[in-house]
Amino acid sequence: MCGIVGYIGNRQAAPLLLAGLEKLEYRGYDSAGIAVLENGAVEVVKCKGRLSALAERLGKTDFGSTLGIGHTRWATHGEPNDLNSHPHISRSGKIAVVHNGIIENYIELKRFLIARGYSFISETDTEVIAHLIEYHYKGDLRKAVTAAMTDIEGSYALGVICSEQNDMFVAARKDSPLIAGIGGNEYFIASDIPAILEHTRDIYILEDKEIAVISRSGAEIFDIYGGKVVKEVFRVNWDIDAAEKSGYEHFMIKEICEEPKVVRDTISPRIRGGDISLDGTGITAESIREIDKIFIVACGTAYHAGVIGKYVIEKLARIPVETELASEFRYRDPMVGPKTLVIVISQSGETLDTMMALKESKRRGARVLSIVNVVGSSIARESDNVLYTQAGPEIAVASTKAYNAQLSAIYLIALKLAQLKGTVSGENFRNIVDNLLALPKAIEKVLGNRSDVQKYASLHYNAKSIFFIGRGLDYALSMEGSLKLKEISYIHSEAYAGGELKHGTIALIEEGTLVVCPMTQLGLREKMTGNIREVKARGAVVLAVVPESCALAEGLADHIVRIPDIDPLVAPVVAATVMQLFAYYVAVLKGCDVDKPRNLAKSVTVE
Ligand code: M6R
Repeated sequence: MCGIVGYIGNRQAAPLLLAGLEKLEYRGYDSAGIAVLENGAVEVVKCKGRLSALAERLGKTDFGSTLGIGHTRWATHGEPNDLNSHPHISRSGKIAVVHNGIIENYIELKRFLIARGYSFISETDTEVIAHLIEYHYKGDLRKAVTAAMTDIEGSYALGVICSEQNDMFVAARKDSPLIAGIGGNEYFIASDIPAILEHTRDIYILEDKEIAVISRSGAEIFDIYGGKVVKEVFRVNWDIDAAEKSGYEHFMIKEICEEPKVVRDTISPRIRGGDISLDGTGITAESIREIDKIFIVACGTAYHAGVIGKYVIEKLARIPVETELASEFRYRDPMVGPKTLVIVISQSGETLDTMMALKESKRRGARVLSIVNVVGSSIARESDNVLYTQAGPEIAVASTKAYNAQLSAIYLIALKLAQLKGTVSGENFRNIVDNLLALPKAIEKVLGNRSDVQKYASLHYNAKSIFFIGRGLDYALSMEGSLKLKEISYIHSEAYAGGELKHGTIALIEEGTLVVCPMTQLGLREKMTGNIREVKARGAVVLAVVPESCALAEGLADHIVRIPDIDPLVAPVVAATVMQLFAYYVAVLKGCDVDKPRNLAKSVTVE
């Protein structure tokens, strides 16, 4: 979702802002712009479309300014066009604002401002902020921003410059990510680390309702009451290469190829002497005695990881689990209380729906354990405990390696809960631990055979509709396979439980329809062959994903992709890679913008 950068220092701001915005492209956007302070005046250049369009316009300027803010916009209020693009300026042209988030009371504020002579030229909620800051401005930009923040309801990360302040700008946040970067003698703000990593590894992570004054001599942080906040510098320990394509054609395939490492890095450090150590997660014999129910709450791919979590935790630990979409959970009066453990899952740690569900859970007295990828993200900081997935930065909008890492974390939690509750035998525990440790090698094998998946993708990339069916864990996996395919290839797709198709959706199967059938679950495979026969009888072409030693798909499925033999409980982690590769190759063959699919944003910070 929208990306923000800001710069003050000795160098020309415009090219640095543009380069920073390029690093935030992955968040998703449909227009972009910058504002700089040039000879005591605010200059804005902005337009609809990609950053290349903005670069072209900037090429016609020659701003020497060393102070500015930039923005990539993912439209919420008003269509993507030049006028609605950020930055937005105030009535006098003195103040320019970039904003990520949504101002919920903007209509009310607009009325208030119109009554005081302000007029509006865009359809955005953000324009209100520019005018409001100007309304409060009496020579102190920090105070004006702070005053505006007390009027505003909603979520925001803000960057604000003022033509009367040549040596500073102001940033602030609430429910939207924002960091301040501390360079040698230059300072930055950004929505995410990759935007500034080239220049500095030292950052401040702004908390809700904090205001940063970024000047030529440093970054000072204040609370909403004007008090100074003493903050620790966070040192980024990952390398810039992690956020580069490193020779791969797309981030997505690079990230899929990183899965063996990601799964290993998430699991191995937690297994010591054959035991699982979940230090820092709050999972102890004592704490689980107080739990009578678990909720897993998340969105999109992370939700699908949560569906697997339900199966696995209930099977191993015999604790009732409900997995729920974060956007639904919050508004339906869920039965959550002090005896509930809420597990929230999020790659970015910034998804607003998930964050709001987290806050609601805490309000109801539940303890929240989050499975998060981004260190120091909002969700990680709001949770009682965190289990970090070790996926590294995920740049492609479609989540891949983060999903495999989330599954890995869930297996660790499920197995630990089972051990502490005594619901798993020592032998079974050791067997599952061995299988978890075997996952990276199994995924490596799938990656080694990826040309098979590519071959089948080349036969079906023109499909109008593709179905995924599976039973048990394979059903949960099918949901993710289907989501991956539709989000990057724009092919209509649905996932169904193998046994459910015949209750209606089978009507959509016709001659040549591709049905993808993972068959990793022992005991359910025979039942799946029945479901495969049903769709084949209606003309479907079947692509089965089966373990090496399983012969059931022979002579039945049209195409077969083999995965290494591994315990069915953990097999979805391996089969997921097949699903991701299939979606990837289909999208590449269709010529889609794989890393930046249309209409999507990497970090969804609106409800
Ligand atoms: O950052 P999060 O894991 O909280 O994001 C949740 C979803 O927005 C995300 O998984 C989304 O569905 C991806 N586009 C999936 O590829």
